[in-house]
Amino acid sequence: MKTMIKFSIIFCFVFLLSCQEKSSSTSHSAESSSSSSSSGSASSESVSNNEDDKNRVLEAILSRKSIREYTDKEITQDVIDKLLKAGMAAPSSRDRRPWHFIVVSDKAILESLGSQLSNASCLKGANKAIIVCGDDQLSDNCWFLDCSAAAQNILIAAESMGLGAVWTAVYPYDDRSEIVNKVFNLQKNIHALTIIPLGYPAVKGEPKDKFDNTRVHYNRW
Ligand SMILES: Cc1cc2nc3c(=O)[nH]c(=O)nc-3n(C[C@H](O)[C@H](O)[C@H](O)COP(=O)(O)O)c2cc1C
Repeated sequence: MKTMIKFSIIFCFVFLLSCQEKSSSTSHSAESSSSSSSSGSASSESVSNNEDDKNRVLEAILSRKSIREYTDKEITQDVIDKLLKAGMAAPSSRDRRPWHFIVVSDKAILESLGSQLSNASCLKGANKAIIVCGDDQLSDNCWFLDCSAAAQNILIAAESMGLGAVWTAVYPYDDRSEIVNKVFNLQKNIHALTIIPLGYPAVKGEPKDKFDNTRVHYNRW
């Protein structure tokens, strides 16, 4: 009788052990299959992030439009810092980075520039502006190319953060350059390329569809 009891206890123990092992292996495989399915969805997510409709960089590039009317909403320094960071992330010839940026928040200066520069009258209603300048001593004759890349980065970053902005040209117009040089007392080697008025949009604005197949040439003209 004693042997019977001993035998059945051992049997139960072995049975329980095998059940436990089974369930742990099932949960393990479920875990691994769920983790592989989750990594599958993560990778499919990252793939879909690269699809045009979910790619935020492309979205900002394709939605960018010039905005010239702004609300009174304040642009924080944090947002300005991001715009400057985007500007300075631009490529530049021989990595010279010949740019300087003047951030204008003083309403009197925005008013004054907007009144003097007929092409940039929207500065009067802007909350802030960034003037992208180039130092010709830091560049081999291509400061304006490097600074254009920086300015475009700022415009795209502005769009991505819900800001309105527009490129208003200073360079290569002598009369406009003179006005800016005078207002900021710029040294001879510093050239203002563009003034970018900034503000939260007071108008919706629609991006233009500019894709034109006739301007595309593959392998030959
Ligand atoms: C080199 C350059 C100079 C420009 N100059 C001015 C300007 O002085 N004043 C202005 O209001 N817009 C200016 N613009 C903005 C253009 O008018 C605008 O980009 C163009 O009409 C296309 O519209 P979109 O920016 O909404 O796509 C300039 C843009 C570039 C690239």
